[in-house]
Amino acid sequence: MFEEYVNGNLPNLKEMVAKNYDKVDRSAEPEVHGIGILTSGGDAPGMNATIRAVVRAGTKAGYKMMGVTRGYHGLWKGEIKELGHRDVSETLQRGGTFLMTARSKTWETPEGVLKGAKNCEVFGIDCMVVIGGDGSFKGARDLARIGIPVIGIPGTIDNDVASTQYTIGYDTAMNTAMEAIDKLRDTASSHERCSVIEVMGRHAGYIALNVGIATGAELILIPEVPWDMKDVIKTILDCRNKGKRHYIVIVAEGAGSATDIAKQIEEATEIESRPTILGHLQRGGSPTLRDRTMASLMGIRAIECIQDKRLNRLVVYRNGEISDVDIEEGLSLTKTISMEDLERSKLLS
Ligand code: F6P
Repeated sequence: MFEEYVNGNLPNLKEMVAKNYDKVDRSAEPEVHGIGILTSGGDAPGMNATIRAVVRAGTKAGYKMMGVTRGYHGLWKGEIKELGHRDVSETLQRGGTFLMTARSKTWETPEGVLKGAKNCEVFGIDCMVVIGGDGSFKGARDLARIGIPVIGIPGTIDNDVASTQYTIGYDTAMNTAMEAIDKLRDTASSHERCSVIEVMGRHAGYIALNVGIATGAELILIPEVPWDMKDVIKTILDCRNKGKRHYIVIVAEGAGSATDIAKQIEEATEIESRPTILGHLQRGGSPTLRDRTMASLMGIRAIECIQDKRLNRLVVYRNGEISDVDIEEGLSLTKTISMEDLERSKLLS
């Protein structure tokens, strides 16, 4: 395979991947000496704490730990250096990811994946730990299918990874949004206004739903559930008729635009309405206790998987426990948001 890559003779990735994947003997996983680690996709608070845990647990177990910068793009370019125990000092409490991250276009080509796999060989990486969401895990699966074993750790503020009930960064992002919305409520209340707040979540409404419940929102609009402007206006008017004098509407970015919604509410009800887009504010900041502990324990679990030769796994959190599942199985799952909780939220507004 590598010779084909070096000679520039690249077969169709899908065919090659299928051919090679079938050939992998799952009962005899390779001996791991060097472990790579990268962060991919949108950053999330707690990614640094995860890197720290993987590096420290890995070095203590005797592995050579290699940090890859800028996600798959850095793997493709060979931006890789060894990380020791002290290299991850003072990172536990820091937001972002010191390894940096990217949404890599190079990885979408067979050439990119093959060159990444070749760089693993060059830098002595026998197994790659990938911190990110399902998109990043699909990239990891490409590596696994051509013979580089992988372990995935869920890190995204959206909590939209199908195989796990919790993703690192979610709690911090929700707390950041909640604190901002509490402040917006103060001013909305003083001016008797409607505050329409757009939170992150292009495809998933987990942040919107839970932050909406935590801030007592009158309305929560999420991408998973179709909604109608007429119902939004009716709810606001019903609230006013019941004596309410200020209103909070939370909209996930994938469900609509706060600017458009606020304009339409004001036009239809004559209630002054203001949009606020919280945006990337939600992705930054020092991780909460929950994210630090999840990051630390999930990072250790990744190394335990490698020690036990349970490779090509995703570390997950299910029913109160950290465990791991096969990457193919994890990626075949779908996640559904709780419609019951969305309904329940209406009881309190
Ligand atoms: O990381 C997930 C996420 O924050 C989504 O909620 C959001 O839609 C997207 O990333 C924004 O990504 P970008 O950094 O490309 O603007």
